[in-house]
Amino acid sequence: MTLSCDAPVPGGLGLPIPPETVYRPQEDSQLLVDAVRRSCRVPGTRAADLCTGTGVVAIELARLGAASVLAIDSCPGAAQSAAARCQKVSDIVTVEHRDLNDLTGRDTFDLVTCNPPYVPTPPDLDVTDEYAWPRNAWDGGPDGRSVLDPLCAGAAELLNPGGTLLLVQSEFADPAETVAALRRTGLHADVVARRRVPFGPVLTAQATWFEDLGLLETDRRVEELVVIRADRPSTSAAPRGHR
Ligand SMILES: C[S@@+](CC[C@H](N)C(=O)[O-])C[C@H]1O[C@@H](n2cnc3c(N)ncnc32)[C@H](O)[C@@H]1O
Repeated sequence: MTLSCDAPVPGGLGLPIPPETVYRPQEDSQLLVDAVRRSCRVPGTRAADLCTGTGVVAIELARLGAASVLAIDSCPGAAQSAAARCQKVSDIVTVEHRDLNDLTGRDTFDLVTCNPPYVPTPPDLDVTDEYAWPRNAWDGGPDGRSVLDPLCAGAAELLNPGGTLLLVQSEFADPAETVAALRRTGLHADVVARRRVPFGPVLTAQATWFEDLGLLETDRRVEELVVIRADRPSTSAAPRGHR
């Protein structure tokens, strides 16, 4: 979906579209926010929004009553954008320019949200002007899991007992592996939301490659996005180490 820079964010989140240096909130952002609204008890939580981009999900967590939100992004431009956009909720949201891999083992949270890059991408993909937003926002490596795998491996260590992770990803990046990887660390994990959306420019440019890999039927140009929820049991022992 292409949006002009001053169009409202889909779903009425009330934010202007940011400059093209930052991922513009799209259907995946909206699906994640909807899942948080529907399935989480946010008031009073210590929350984190990983891969925050514009901070759209972090701001929603603050609106929903989180006591604190740590919003991180590995892209300096995104962190800057989020910091500017979170000013009105700066008593709640702290924005840091940080890689999510640096978070594990330091901080723990009641609620963690993440919309990571998850698009399977051939290493030699030529990024043209058609790719209007930054590649690190969607490029998930050849299997789409270059950020998902370390996120899953470290998720249990980010959660307090009774804590919840909600992440969004594409069907093309193996949601079953995400659920299995989260379960391997002792979390209870399942798909809790699904939405089919038309291909945007990134997937359209890769459709033939997806067909060759057997990930996509010929002429289908619709993708299923899923939200996966993982809960750390409130009585669980320390999470199983992964490193
Ligand atoms: C799909 S965008 C999501 C943005 C926003 N959360 C949303 O839902 O609209 C993914 C974001 O992850 C960031 N990112 C990519 N790899 C990361 C990493 N290893 N650690 C932290 N952030 C990362 C990118 O810079 C980008 O802003």
